[in-house]
Amino acid sequence: MALVATVAALLAALGGALWLAARRFVGPSVRHGGGDSGLMHGKTVLITGANSGLGRATAAELLRLGARVIMGCRDRARAEEAAGQLRRELRQAGGSGPGSDAGEAGELVVRELDLASLRSVRAFCQEMLQEEPRLDVLINNAGIFHCPYMKTEDGFEMQFGVNHLGHFLLTNLLLGLLKSSAPSRIVVVSSKLYKYGDINFEDLNSEQSYNKSFCYSRSKLANILFTRELARRLEGTNVTVNVLHPGIVRTNLGRHIHIPLLVKPLFNLVSWAFFKTPVEGAQTSVYLASSPEVEGVSGKYFGDCKEEALLPKAMDESVARKLWDISEVMVGILK
Ligand SMILES: NC(=O)c1ccc[n+]([C@@H]2O[C@H](COP(=O)([O-])OP(=O)(O)OC[C@H]3O[C@@H](n4cnc5c(N)ncnc54)[C@H](OP(=O)(O)O)[C@@H]3O)[C@@H](O)[C@H]2O)c1
Repeated sequence: MALVATVAALLAALGGALWLAARRFVGPSVRHGGGDSGLMHGKTVLITGANSGLGRATAAELLRLGARVIMGCRDRARAEEAAGQLRRELRQAGGSGPGSDAGEAGELVVRELDLASLRSVRAFCQEMLQEEPRLDVLINNAGIFHCPYMKTEDGFEMQFGVNHLGHFLLTNLLLGLLKSSAPSRIVVVSSKLYKYGDINFEDLNSEQSYNKSFCYSRSKLANILFTRELARRLEGTNVTVNVLHPGIVRTNLGRHIHIPLLVKPLFNLVSWAFFKTPVEGAQTSVYLASSPEVEGVSGKYFGDCKEEALLPKAMDESVARKLWDISEVMVGILK
């Protein structure tokens, strides 16, 4: 009896390991636009934080679909390195690019954008407006998570400043270009952790108290409220805006979390086995940026390429309007 139980346990463990290995090595089951390498041909896409994790994977996928991808990144050297790798990967995969299948090729452009500096956001947008004749998709992807208490150049709490306010200004300054390129799309990367946030208007810079988890969740709730309010304002313009959560993805997002040395191997194993890969995590961003299925859809929340329900606090229109008005003042958009 004991022998049978041991053999059964070993077989189950072996089966589990094989399943995990297959999951890891075979790759994602769904790949949007997989059969249509020219789906994004002629389209310009701006992705913030495109040098790492989800942003990098989203850039790779959209490049594969033929888009001109602008990587808005805070560190030029890191961004150029990522761009070089992406171009090499595309060539190795036999994809288009200079020299092969000309015409289907996407193109990568690196531009400097630090969302923790309103000055940088303004300079970036000025350059975009001068040099880019069109913008078909804006993907507000960059993010910072669980950092110690820090302030942006303009004195905002870092997670709220980068994840919400920097993107708020960026989007507003690029709206004219998006409208003149319509039909165009805005995609906002939020998180399921929005559920644990609240918009505490009396202390948006967390000067009275700072809790890393709360501030991240608050910034991700702000992403959703921003999306819904913007969708309302964009009605009738042919510019859509949708928000998503990518699931739990193995990226560099946890860089500020200290994992004890002894626990690290276990954490790596668990994350390898159970977290999504960046390519898997990027699928909803790619879907919202490119799929004909969501043409005209706006103001919705997605996970795994499907619409999901939101908690009432993320659908509160009066909070969304108030947040919009206060954000305008904070970033200095004058009416
Ligand atoms: N990974 C997950 O499980 C998960 C779950 C839910 C939501 N998300 C969201 O997914 C998005 C992408 O995160 P990720 O997981 O791909 O993490 P990541 O690998 O750390 O990538 C984040 C990107 O944001 C950039 N960034 C950070 N601060 C910036 C700033 N001040 N200005 C411009 N860019 C800045 C980073 O640039 P540097 O490389 O220069 O630092 C990096 O390119 C974030 O919005 C995050 O909240 C992720």
